[in-house]
Amino acid sequence: MGGFVNRHIVTANGFDEKNIPWFGNKFLTGNGYFGVRGTMEEYRKEQMCAINMAGIYDRVGDKWREPVNAPNPFYSVLYVDGVLLALPETAPKSHRQELDFYSALQMRETVWETEKGTVTLSCQRFSSMADQHLLAMRYVVTADYDCEIAVTTGIDGDVWDINGPHFASLKTGYEDGIRYVTGITGERGVTVTVKSRLLCDTPGTVTTDQYTALETVTRQVTANTPFILDTVAELTTSVDVFPPKAELSTLTYDAVKAEHVAKWKNIWDISEVSIDGDEEAEFSLNYSLYHLNCVAPRNLDGVSIGARGLSGQVYKGAVFWDTEMFMLDYYIDTDPKAAKDLLKYRIDTIGGAREKAKEYGLNGAYYAWESQDGGYEGCSDYNVVDVFTKRPMRTYFRDKQYHVSAAIVYGFMKYLKGTGDYSIIDEGGLSVILECAQMYRSLLLKKADSDWYEIHDVVGPDEYHERVNNNAYTNRMAKFVFETALSMIAYAKEKGLKTDYDLDSIAAMCKESAEHMYVPQMNENGLIEQFDGYFGLEDASVEEVRSRLLDPKEYWGGAYGVAADTQVLKQADVVALLSMFREEYSVDVMRKNWEYYEPRTEHGSSLSACMYSLLSCYIGNPDDAYPLFMKSANADLLPAGKEWIGLIYIGGTHPAAQGGAWIVMVKGFAGISAKDGKLTAEPKLPKGWKELRFKMMYQGKLYQIIARQDGAEIKEIEQQG
Ligand code: BGC
Repeated sequence: MGGFVNRHIVTANGFDEKNIPWFGNKFLTGNGYFGVRGTMEEYRKEQMCAINMAGIYDRVGDKWREPVNAPNPFYSVLYVDGVLLALPETAPKSHRQELDFYSALQMRETVWETEKGTVTLSCQRFSSMADQHLLAMRYVVTADYDCEIAVTTGIDGDVWDINGPHFASLKTGYEDGIRYVTGITGERGVTVTVKSRLLCDTPGTVTTDQYTALETVTRQVTANTPFILDTVAELTTSVDVFPPKAELSTLTYDAVKAEHVAKWKNIWDISEVSIDGDEEAEFSLNYSLYHLNCVAPRNLDGVSIGARGLSGQVYKGAVFWDTEMFMLDYYIDTDPKAAKDLLKYRIDTIGGAREKAKEYGLNGAYYAWESQDGGYEGCSDYNVVDVFTKRPMRTYFRDKQYHVSAAIVYGFMKYLKGTGDYSIIDEGGLSVILECAQMYRSLLLKKADSDWYEIHDVVGPDEYHERVNNNAYTNRMAKFVFETALSMIAYAKEKGLKTDYDLDSIAAMCKESAEHMYVPQMNENGLIEQFDGYFGLEDASVEEVRSRLLDPKEYWGGAYGVAADTQVLKQADVVALLSMFREEYSVDVMRKNWEYYEPRTEHGSSLSACMYSLLSCYIGNPDDAYPLFMKSANADLLPAGKEWIGLIYIGGTHPAAQGGAWIVMVKGFAGISAKDGKLTAEPKLPKGWKELRFKMMYQGKLYQIIARQDGAEIKEIEQQG
């Protein structure tokens, strides 16, 4: 370990074209309203350049609906003495890309060698956290010889789309020193406008065409004199819930940057984690928290976080169970208002969930597997493309992943426990919980002579085994939903909440369902069977199953995927159940199941490692937990993730893995739990960790936690601001 030049700077030296997609994710900046991929200024859609918008979706024909990418105000190309210097075309002498994740600044420095000497391009840019409508860039060119520098810079409206084009019309122009490109989406007519102002002491020549509004600035420079071009840009839409804070024409790069950096400092004052004894883990974890802050939809209404954050249109920009199960904890612990906003998204989209329940003949609310605005279900019946036939494959994610509704209820309960703020229940949370319970009720089946309710034909968290019966995780979660609904009905009655629900009859239904819910228990070996018949499947190793692939992009699940008839699972399933309901199982049972399931798990989802890591901590094995924790925290730092499901590209950032790393740190390594309204800590630190230090909110108060190998301190501290 060690060797970090700076605790907060991610650096990549050298240029390799094949890293362009990954670096777009790794060096992303964002502010919840949009995310800007970490691409270079001269890149265009071919290099997956994107300013990905939160919560604005569009559908073209019968293609998949996906979030809209805004016109790019950072587009810039450089000519020196008439010669183009640009990546990837012009090989550089040296190239460095950096992300200062403390101040949320992306930087690049590229040096090209020309016949006359060297030219250095340095850029710094950011997505303002202080005014979420703003983006800014400082573009500096220096040559070590006298030359003519020309920079063409401005807004590129020819954006990267997976299922576009989403702008049915584009308007470009220039007025009073401000360039603009406005696009109007085809499906709903939402207007997306990017305006930008170039601050440079040399006047430029403006050109506009169908897609772009550019300005070319040409200057004779003497050797070693930097040529500086600042851009401040503003992004707005016709559905904004708040306006920009200031007139674009009054803003300068330095002033916008100062406010942005100050805002991030406030975030880090609460969020930063320090790990004495492990710089690498500290770095990876804080980098993960950086990403969680880039995607938190602060100040927006009716928006949550997609599975790939704001890194592009992958997974249709849709919100999965990832948010409530893996990301929410971080916001509950550091910014409860942001956590509440995420849950409000589920309240606001209950209409979509009711419609989906009806579509499948169920009662109540069945939340979308891939939820977009209004709770619209983005998941199709044919969600994977077969690599061999190139035909869409029937999958059952949309119809059968019932566990998504339970994850949402689980999220509400975590929020209530962590914040003590029940206002969310009065503001619509009660409907979500009761209607999810009604949905699960309509899934229950009873055999003629049985007392037990079963749930058949489901897809559990392990997506490689579709249409199984009595998935232990799903059944336990259904029971949890019934139990939660019961306690929320008791709360509603006690508070005298006004509601149109017949609380008594729903309570009777939930009580009866919870009491008779069949939850698979351990067998004589202490093992819980993932679903009926799982232990009878072929017990092949992950490596053996992998070796059966005929194509590396082949989908492992589905009707005839290589894992489908084996015990190899995609991601934590029984292990997720055990980590969530740990108080119901002995350490011995947890250990036996971890030891059984871990070698059979492909960890084909980035959601998997953190669950195994957490359970390892609960078992008392922080050293086994450690590599899985690092895998989660490094999801975007290292090029480890799966990029394809069949022929569908799934690359992007991994906020669920990043949230999972936070959960492992808090609940696993620091061993934080709450008893009788008080936080307690039973640390289980990995070898070499001398001291783990962080802050967290609990029930409206802020605490400083210091965990060591031999104990912990929890101290209430003053909240600023
Ligand atoms: C996982 C799901 C997850 C989705 C989005 C899939 O690969 O199996 O559990 O919700 O990705 O992250």
